Amino acid sequence: MDFDIYKGKKVFLTGHTGFKGSWLALWLTNLGAEVCGYSLAPDTEPALFNILGLDKKVKKHILGDVRDFENLKKSVGSFKPDIIFHLAAQPLVRVSYKTPLETYQTNVMGVVNVLEAARMSGGVEAIVNVTTDKCYHNKEENYAYKETDPMGGYDPYSNSKACSELVTSSFRSSFFNPAHIGVKHNTALASARAGNVIGGGDYSLDRLIPDFIKAIYSGEKIVLRNPDAVRPWQFVLEPLSGYLLLGVKLLSKDRNSAAKYASAYNFGPYESSVITVENVVKEAIKILKKGSYSIDKGEHPHEAGLLQLCIEKADKELNWEPIYTVTKAIDETMKWYKAYNDGEDMLKFSNKQINEYAEQISFGTGS
Ligand SMILES: NC(=O)c1ccc[n+]([C@@H]2O[C@H](COP(=O)([O-])OP(=O)(O)OC[C@H]3O[C@@H](n4cnc5c(N)ncnc54)[C@H](O)[C@@H]3O)[C@@H](O)[C@H]2O)c1
Repeated sequence: MDFDIYKGKKVFLTGHTGFKGSWLALWLTNLGAEVCGYSLAPDTEPALFNILGLDKKVKKHILGDVRDFENLKKSVGSFKPDIIFHLAAQPLVRVSYKTPLETYQTNVMGVVNVLEAARMSGGVEAIVNVTTDKCYHNKEENYAYKETDPMGGYDPYSNSKACSELVTSSFRSSFFNPAHIGVKHNTALASARAGNVIGGGDYSLDRLIPDFIKAIYSGEKIVLRNPDAVRPWQFVLEPLSGYLLLGVKLLSKDRNSAAKYASAYNFGPYESSVITVENVVKEAIKILKKGSYSIDKGEHPHEAGLLQLCIEKADKELNWEPIYTVTKAIDETMKWYKAYNDGEDMLKFSNKQINEYAEQISFGTGS
């Protein structure tokens, strides 16, 4: 059982112009999948999607809004995907404090629209809704959240992703019930909750690594707002390998087997990679041998201080496990930005990172 199943599969990928979506689009096209991307246009300069020339690699590149149900329904209906990976979102905590309405509309009605479009299209075998570790009711205790723990979310982003999980759960009970797979419908629906992702090509606002890279290359200090915040850091390909593996299980020809995986999964790092913001920056400075930081002690909107994920379920049921340590993740990330700034061929470089990572996983292959 491996990722070869994606060869020739029709994959509808929302959020393909973003950071994680671009990496996933590249990996899927390397695997031989026919990818139809559906997203807003890239909104950073530079943008990984453009750097990798992904508009020419995907089968279909649709610039569309997940809030626009009619367009989404038409796009899913005409492409007739085997599987949908839903990544499109407003993914930033601080932005969500400024634009809560848009955040909820995109993250909650967005998933309702995707699931309803899939329901109306009829032939979709598998759906993976990508949410986040922040969906849990976070008590800020030394505890790693399990899939069965209650949803919550203090800020609008985290809460909207908890809502996205609840929507997924309702659609699974009401329309894509695992007990009726292969009888009343044929769709296995799961969700995936990952931690803080780092990797090359992220140019988002208000994220640690992009802020650090901007500071380094403009000769400034990075200013840390929450130096003591503890997060489960992981290399971008780690959760993506989890999403792909979950997709493999949901696409299983044996629909009774696929039904067993129609649930929520955490894809986080090992405990040793759960470190503070300040320690990530110190490690990056050590690797690059340049850079410095200062700490902003001013007032900031609430952000979680401590967050850990239990990954026993993904390990036991999917045989998924993290491969890279946090040091390796930071090292690979810094190498990517250095290569980009040195003018290297980034499609080649990014493919090399995917292949090196894929060679180390026991359940899949790269390009
Ligand atoms: N980056 C992380 O650390 C992290 C951690 C956990 C979960 N996630 C989740 O992973 C997913 C991808 O995150 P990312 O880091 O790549 O974010 P990103 O901001 O780089 O990409 C977001 C994507 O969503 C699209 N999008 C936003 N609003 C849209 C709309 N209204 N209609 C259509 N498309 C829209 C954008 O065009 C882009 O393609 C999100 O669902 C996010 O919540 C990210």
